[in-house]
Amino acid sequence: MANSPSGESIIERITRVLDTFSADRTVQTASEIGRRAGLPSATAHRLVDELISAGLLERDEERRVRLGMRLWELALRGSTALRLRQAALPHMETVQTVVREHTQLAVLEQNEALFLERLSHPAAVSNITRVAGRLPLHASSSGLVLLAHAEPALRERVLAGPLTPVGPETVTDAGALRRLLTDIRRTGVAVAPGSIEAVSSGIAVPVRDRGEVIAALSVVLPREADEEPVIRELRAAATRIEAELRESR
Ligand code: PHB
Repeated sequence: MANSPSGESIIERITRVLDTFSADRTVQTASEIGRRAGLPSATAHRLVDELISAGLLERDEERRVRLGMRLWELALRGSTALRLRQAALPHMETVQTVVREHTQLAVLEQNEALFLERLSHPAAVSNITRVAGRLPLHASSSGLVLLAHAEPALRERVLAGPLTPVGPETVTDAGALRRLLTDIRRTGVAVAPGSIEAVSSGIAVPVRDRGEVIAALSVVLPREADEEPVIRELRAAATRIEAELRESR
């Protein structure tokens, strides 16, 4: 791979360009991309132009740049995330119909919970998750499920901190978090009231494939709502998703 004078490969530079986009920052100018990627302006403009020609980035009428539809298409093609989402979606819809609050599906991705899907309801409580958005493992109910079942080394890294608070009741004490994770493994459910936002509780259960936890299925409820019926719905849906995954192998 041809390297730049800095010794960085073209793939590394392209990755840096693409990494400047986030769930909160979806449109940028080429100059902003260059600055955020730490690339010389001429290099950034050339890379952005080439990525636009390849369809991996798109430019709007105001010359602002966003991730291209082709990138989405390629990323989803044959991906394990897509297989999981397809298996889960009908059962998420069932939960959604009964519970009438947000229902979401998350996987562990580079030390965070990455949300693959979210179904909403017009009257649902406030919810900060977004499709292709991330939340910290120690704060969201999905993240807690994924962390409880993660490799011990990852769990220890997260427990070593910093455990930054997100909501008023995020567990930020390592000892308390360790006990909470043990409880989640024992009971098979994470209940996180006020951990992300004061007004809501996250409830999440694990989804397994070949015996391993591969995702978390969750609902965001108003704080005062009864959790028990929701836990039953989530568990039933997780079981159906697991059956679907077995059949689609
Ligand atoms: C959660 O998963 O715990 C969660 C996510 C988003 C919210 C609230 C709770 O807005």
